[in-house]
Amino acid sequence: MGKTIRRLVFAVNGERYELPEVDPSTTLLEFLRTRTPYKGAKLGCGEGGCGACVVLLSRYDPITEQVTEFSASSCLTLLCSINFHSVTTTEGLGNSKDGFHPIHQRVSGFHASQCGFCTPGMCMSLFSAVVNADKTDRPEPPNGFSKLTVSEAVKAISGNLCRCTGYRPIVDTCKSFAADVDLEDLGLNSFWKKGDKNVNVSRLPHYSSGGICTFPEFLKSEIKSISDVPGDSGLTATGGGYWYRPDSVEDLYKLLNSEAFSESSVKMVVGNTSTGVYKDQDLYDKYVDLRGIPELSVVKSDREGIEIGAAVTISRAIEVLKAENECTLHSNGKLVFNKIADHMNKVASPFVRNTASVGGNLIMAQRNPFASDIATILLAAGATLRIKMASERLSLTLEEFLERPPCDYKTLLLSVYIPCWSSACNSPLKKGNVDSIAATETNLLFETYRAAPRPLGNAVAYLNSAFLAQTSLDKESGSLVLDNLNLAFGAYGTDHAIRARKVENFLKGKPVTASSLLEALKLLKETIVVKKGTAHPAYRSSLAVSFLFDFLRPFANGLAEPGKAVHIDGSSSASVAEYPNGKLNGRVDISPNKTSKNMDIDFSDMNLSSRQDVEIREENYPIGEPTQKVGAANQASGEAVYVDDIPAPENCLYGAFIYSTRPLAHVRGIKFGSSLASQKIVSVVSVNDIPKGGENVGASFVFGSESLFAGSLTEYAGQPLGVVIAETQRHANMAAKQAIVDYGTENLEPPILSVEDAVERCSYFDVPSMFSPKQIGDFSKGMAEADQTILSAEVKLDSQYFFYMETQAALAVPDEDNCMVVYSSNQGPEVTQNVIGRCLGIPFHNVRVITRRVGGGFGGKFFKASIVSTACAVAAHKLRRPVRMYVDRKTDMIMAGGRHPMKVGYSVGFKSDGKITALHLDLLINAGIVADLSPLIPREIIGALKKYNWGALSLDIKVCKTNLSSKTAMRAPGTTQGSFIAEAIIEHVASTLSLDTNSVRKRNLHTFESLALFYGDSAGEAPEYTLPSIFDNLALSPSYQQRGEVIRHFNSINKWKKRGISCVPIMYQVAPRPAAGTVSVLNDGSVVVEVGGIEIGQGLWTRVRQMAAFALGQLWDDGSEKFLERVRVIQADTLSLTQGGFTGGSTTSQSSCEAVRLSCSILVDRLRPLKDRLQEQNGVVSWDYLITQANMESVHLSANAYWVPDLKSKEYLNYGAAASEVELDLLTGAATILRTDLVYDCGQSLNPAVDLGQVEGAFVQGIGFFMYEEYLTNSDGLVVTDGTWTYKIPTVDTIPKQFNVELLNKKHNQNRVLSSKASGEPPLLLAASVHCAIREAIRAARADLLSCGGPDNSPFTFQLEVPATMPVIKELCGLDNVEKYLEALSAH
Ligand SMILES: Cc1cc2nc3c(=O)[nH]c(=O)nc-3n(C[C@H](O)[C@H](O)[C@H](O)COP(=O)(O)OP(=O)(O)OC[C@H]3O[C@@H](n4cnc5c(N)ncnc54)[C@H](O)[C@@H]3O)c2cc1C
Ligand code: FES
Ligand code: FES
Repeated sequence: MGKTIRRLVFAVNGERYELPEVDPSTTLLEFLRTRTPYKGAKLGCGEGGCGACVVLLSRYDPITEQVTEFSASSCLTLLCSINFHSVTTTEGLGNSKDGFHPIHQRVSGFHASQCGFCTPGMCMSLFSAVVNADKTDRPEPPNGFSKLTVSEAVKAISGNLCRCTGYRPIVDTCKSFAADVDLEDLGLNSFWKKGDKNVNVSRLPHYSSGGICTFPEFLKSEIKSISDVPGDSGLTATGGGYWYRPDSVEDLYKLLNSEAFSESSVKMVVGNTSTGVYKDQDLYDKYVDLRGIPELSVVKSDREGIEIGAAVTISRAIEVLKAENECTLHSNGKLVFNKIADHMNKVASPFVRNTASVGGNLIMAQRNPFASDIATILLAAGATLRIKMASERLSLTLEEFLERPPCDYKTLLLSVYIPCWSSACNSPLKKGNVDSIAATETNLLFETYRAAPRPLGNAVAYLNSAFLAQTSLDKESGSLVLDNLNLAFGAYGTDHAIRARKVENFLKGKPVTASSLLEALKLLKETIVVKKGTAHPAYRSSLAVSFLFDFLRPFANGLAEPGKAVHIDGSSSASVAEYPNGKLNGRVDISPNKTSKNMDIDFSDMNLSSRQDVEIREENYPIGEPTQKVGAANQASGEAVYVDDIPAPENCLYGAFIYSTRPLAHVRGIKFGSSLASQKIVSVVSVNDIPKGGENVGASFVFGSESLFAGSLTEYAGQPLGVVIAETQRHANMAAKQAIVDYGTENLEPPILSVEDAVERCSYFDVPSMFSPKQIGDFSKGMAEADQTILSAEVKLDSQYFFYMETQAALAVPDEDNCMVVYSSNQGPEVTQNVIGRCLGIPFHNVRVITRRVGGGFGGKFFKASIVSTACAVAAHKLRRPVRMYVDRKTDMIMAGGRHPMKVGYSVGFKSDGKITALHLDLLINAGIVADLSPLIPREIIGALKKYNWGALSLDIKVCKTNLSSKTAMRAPGTTQGSFIAEAIIEHVASTLSLDTNSVRKRNLHTFESLALFYGDSAGEAPEYTLPSIFDNLALSPSYQQRGEVIRHFNSINKWKKRGISCVPIMYQVAPRPAAGTVSVLNDGSVVVEVGGIEIGQGLWTRVRQMAAFALGQLWDDGSEKFLERVRVIQADTLSLTQGGFTGGSTTSQSSCEAVRLSCSILVDRLRPLKDRLQEQNGVVSWDYLITQANMESVHLSANAYWVPDLKSKEYLNYGAAASEVELDLLTGAATILRTDLVYDCGQSLNPAVDLGQVEGAFVQGIGFFMYEEYLTNSDGLVVTDGTWTYKIPTVDTIPKQFNVELLNKKHNQNRVLSSKASGEPPLLLAASVHCAIREAIRAARADLLSCGGPDNSPFTFQLEVPATMPVIKELCGLDNVEKYLEALSAH
């Protein structure tokens, strides 16, 4: 039964760890974060979907003396599985004490970190790629570079999510290590200035290969000294469970047949990545690690095929398939293996593939209805499997295996066999016929497909397929005939991948013609039966049609696109067709200087380019300098401390919410099922634990409060019912899952779940008149002036989730005298302090809320963060012990609320030239259960919508109260929707009039006079109104017009790809709020600054520091004293600095800067007389000397100020525009952003690097809203897209292929903080340009489709939903566009 091992031994960052006892369900991440000082690996999702937890694992082979290094998601890796491994976290690369690693330094220098929560994971993904590239036998790279290529460098982070930066600066960091990079192509950085000559690698922090030892010598010696390691045969971990590592199949079966095992208690694992897909519902205490069985790790290849052991990782399988081997003597075999490997490269992400096994994937595909890619592609390749059942070994085809009933835990998958395909016979290569067929092997084709929200993977496919065809030449007709076909489809909502046998049989022996193909596709549609309950069934079956069409069309005369025809010898490698002007030939024209030989967008080369145009102004030095972000290198090295990184105080307990799953119900009671997890419960905290004298309040704002816990009535799905307390966070999370809530609905009205329900029941929140947007002009008169009208049109907008990488987190520590200290990831600590005081019934001065930094907020950590902090405080108060909560991603998504969904009705009048004369809006805003900040939303919506002169504007706005979690202010709240609604109306008008949309935009942009009418004082002075010139420069420029021409030509010659371009202007009103600041000078002359504003990644500390240095520097007119390095901005503490307010609305950095400037001015005024006196006495005076003297003369060296904006600086407008160009694939609905040019007026930037980061990050977050992110609920209003599997934020492969940003950095207005403007939110609105460009491309597609008999309604007027996901786009381009096309062809 395997040997018993006494200990678990491994190294972390060169340090030895030996554990005699370990709970086998402990993950590596949990261990690192709770039992080591290394907090660099972060928990972002716990399901392999974000990359925040990536570490480098190293294995040593004592025989070959080789070290293998690979990235892995530590959240899925079980600790026991790393016995005798070495772990390197980002701290292991370098740190602030011993020196940062060049990766850390370049992250900082390329401005590639904002909140910093994703940064350690990014560093480790990059490091792993660099280390492995350097091990290859490629030529030595130039000094300072690695052997990595640019494409590999970018792909290295393809599975890592970042919500802040928009990836561009991270991409530049990665590229800077690539041997083939052109350094001059890299973006704004602090290593060289734009236009510098001699940009070379010596300017970058030096990299040399092998600088880090990832496998310590002591561990190597230890491994060599013991015989049973690393293939040690059995480890029994004590500490409440067992870990077995059998060393043979027989050993495994002895174990499985023993009494200790049953299906429910044992978990067999290889990489354990399936836990990311199917979450454990209870704790396990028995694990069997299959990796110790040599038979499962076999890799054998010969001329007939390749056998891959079930425990072989996907990464290793890719290597094997790509490697030259005997079998690849046959080009067809090579083709199949290569295509399989390429497809596998899109499965999950590098750090998942490195530990995930091929066998684990196939078992998931067989046992669960998992949407496997591997099963589908292997099915088409004719793979067979070897399995072991309880008493027998079987050899089965993959198809037979998949069709068996779900296998039980005693079925062991041993290996997969992929045959080497020849083409001269209707079967894979058989022994003996190798030589005879070698000469004729030309007519075999193999192709794989997947349609997924992200091209490079880490997104499960809507449908995948793989096709193998063998053809021969029909001499009579001269056409190709299909002799043998394997058509496999999977992931579409089926129990498992299938072969479309009827279609295969139908096509066999036939030449491909339009009509035979049409018949085959009809048969296919009957075959692809999507299981009930699967989203987008019609889309999925249309994908099957598209893929088969795409595969077969090269076989048929007249169907192939130029360059894709199959030659008579069967090859399809495609010569690229040349088009008349010799330039276009269907290329992706993403860069005027770069050409691609391919008709398709090739994601395999990941060619991303960018340009940043920023003028650096130095008159207020160091303000205006693109200084590195404060603490960026610390974020990269994992030293930056977030709430969950604070070492746990002694006796710390952990909490997890139990939330309601019903929208409106009585809560009769909560029980817990009997389970291992339930046994971990220490306490349950609920409404009954709110102390006497306290209130049941969890969050509050001027418009009202939200309860902390539901009492006997729950009012929305997701409402906290209580908190389960346990000794670890994982135990608390797992125990909370065991809660069984008894609900009742007697005597209750039905819940209000939609705005329509709310209207019916008159369920609204009041909007105080001061926040109510005003009507403008006379609507009836405006309509009377119109030549045409559109009446009662409708637009709907859904919600968006923040997806901050750090979920809600708090740690409450009871303090003496009934006080409470709470560390909170929070955008409004002052509000939270007040709420906790009210809830506990204690004075506010008893509550200290401390926030150092926030791992992303985007508005989600203001109102909602209070609930988490307050729950911790109540639990800590009850139990008299510290209590921490780090909310898991699913619960966070369920409780968060997010952006406001809304329904918009509009009636608009306009003239024939596109001038709009009147607009009426009926707005129904879904606010959820409490008012939160919702009464502010109407004003925000209309503020952004007014960017156009609507003539007269009349409004009917209702803020609806519904039984949903309360919606709150998400980055650019209301304005995102308002600006989009304006564009939807403009598009509608333009298409009604058949006018160019940009001309209608231009026609309705404000003059300064109308601007002043619509915006009053916020309009400022006429010269400040830069929007018309920004728009003209982008949209009316000759180059834009030329691109329009190119696009029209592209569209005319491409049937299945269409492009669109659009330019969108934005106007964004902001209102700075009062802010507090304190500046103190310490005895050594160092300066400490406190502000109410929170560092949420937006660079607040960086700007505040620059401001303090600038303002103190006023003492030295000649600039001889430099202060930047002397200044430290410290955490917010509600008892140290009061009236801190909250951080949001894009202006907190500016306000905080102004408070700091005022404080510094006070200090300067106090110090100036002394300085003048000393200067007279001594000539030169240094700062250090001045401070020493000031202390001796008792000058007060601390000053604070509370800045209150005066009337002139109360509100102002921000302007920008973006032109985006997209390409649509009409077969799948996929949209690729080829290029975005964005211009944003930053006033006079306080820090252009920070502003640029805000602009790019906001834009990409906007892409998420407009293209990808579906925040969906079930019929009870419970969020169902509740993790990285279903909620897709943009990744590096979805950002614009070319992304050019220009910041207008001009001095405009002395009433604003040193003439600066906001940059945090407004650019998010510009992502609507992508949506509008998609609409243009769809128009082109529909115009084409007309010739094939569709679409049914007007081809040019349609509503394009937000987000414009692949199914949405495909539907508008015609789910049956292929059939219609073939029908039209067949009819001729
Ligand atoms: C973030 C993420 C994204 C992903 N994306 C994709 C994707 O796009 N396409 C795709 O196809 N897959 C995808 N996957 C699935 C991934 O490929 C599988 O999770 C992985 O291959 C499973 O291998 P494992 O070694 O981790 O299995 P484990 O989790 O260790 O085991 C999985 C299951 O199989 C059983 N098992 C494992 N090996 C054997 C064996 N030899 N015999 C019998 N039973 C066995 C285990 O008991 C367990 O029940 C994704 C996974 C993650 C986490
Ligand atoms: S936390 Fe591990 S991948 Fe997200
Ligand atoms: S910096 Fe990447 S998530 Fe914040």
